[in-house]
Amino acid sequence: MRTLITNIKHLYQTESINENKLRVSGADMAYLPGIANAWLIIADGRIHSYGDMADIQETHVDETIDATGRMVLPAWCDSHTHLVFATPRDGEFVDRIRGLTYEEVARRGGGILNSARMLNAMDEQQLFDQSLVRLHKVMGQGTGAIEIKSGYGLCMEGELKMLRVIRRLRESVSIPIRSTFLAAHAYPVEYKEDKEGYIKLIIEQMLPRVASEGLADYMDVFCEKGFFGVPETEQLLEAGYKYGLKPKIHANQLHHSGGVEVGVKYKALSVDHLECIGEKEIESLKGSNTMPTLLPGAAFFLGMHYQPARKIIDAGLPVCLATDYNPGSCPSGNVPLLLSIACTQLKMTPEEAINAVTINGAAAMELEQQMGTIKVGKKAILILTKPIPSLAYIPYDYGNNNVERLLC
Ligand code: NIG
Ligand code: FE
Repeated sequence: MRTLITNIKHLYQTESINENKLRVSGADMAYLPGIANAWLIIADGRIHSYGDMADIQETHVDETIDATGRMVLPAWCDSHTHLVFATPRDGEFVDRIRGLTYEEVARRGGGILNSARMLNAMDEQQLFDQSLVRLHKVMGQGTGAIEIKSGYGLCMEGELKMLRVIRRLRESVSIPIRSTFLAAHAYPVEYKEDKEGYIKLIIEQMLPRVASEGLADYMDVFCEKGFFGVPETEQLLEAGYKYGLKPKIHANQLHHSGGVEVGVKYKALSVDHLECIGEKEIESLKGSNTMPTLLPGAAFFLGMHYQPARKIIDAGLPVCLATDYNPGSCPSGNVPLLLSIACTQLKMTPEEAINAVTINGAAAMELEQQMGTIKVGKKAILILTKPIPSLAYIPYDYGNNNVERLLC
């Protein structure tokens, strides 16, 4: 099957065949290469060729899409989500408006434990059905690769149920899905007084089962005061490595928790959140391959201070953006809205923000050889926009979806 897209107003994030773009860092993030008035051919699901309309050659195709007025970009790569969950937590949303903090809600048995109760009570089919609806919705907003975590089971059966649902989602759509094992998201109620016991359960029982069934690509730990400390995180990450699971961790959301340094030490693919990050943490990221991943949707929804994206970029580091789609701290998987928040609150330019959710998002899921740029041979999972005046219009037109179609 060959598809030709003609009259593309602007084709963004192109990469020549001789380049090997693994991630974009520092000042380079401001640059988004592309071609005005372009064509592109997709053959059997891959990018076959592209160029300037002035040089288009006649060739056989099965389908032609006239993209007049529209732009084409690589699809968003959302590298941090909790898209599989049972029930919204809108009650806690109101409690927080009335003055409770996210941590107070959690201490009262709400938060992640609330989600765990509801998830364990829901049957697998229903969990799958509603997760698939969410997945289709974010794909309609341009998401073309996604990472999804467990972490609302907090027991063997619940965690396996979530991971099986993620596997079924992967089999149901044509976009890449990465699966992350996050049993270390909170201590379940039964282990409140026996934290070592829960860590033992994860390491000795859950991890071997998850690995033997091939249910996860990565391992995550919520490294935070009141959740899992640095020594526990180290213990868990070491065990994960024994089963071939690389870490991607929740770090420095609520406090300077040591999560960034431990992530770097254990060669995490990414350290995610980073609301509480200063000079020391930024310094530790230099020279590492660990991707600083910012989740400003959570800071927005919890009314917290935003991540210092400018300081991280000015330090020459890459920045990745992801939604954190989850029922507690960010009930939205809408990447265009994330881009608006990144531009208005983190003062990232539209080009920087788009680099952060394309090539850098791909890198945070080890998909940089397949996704994230318009390069011959990569997967043709592409965004076709509606007619829009400029690239900046995508984050400018906040709350609206200017993605006409995800081609995949
Ligand atoms: O990334 N911070 C930990 N985990 C999620 C939120 C989980 C929840 O509140 O359900 C996050 O924000
Ligand atoms: Fe998260």
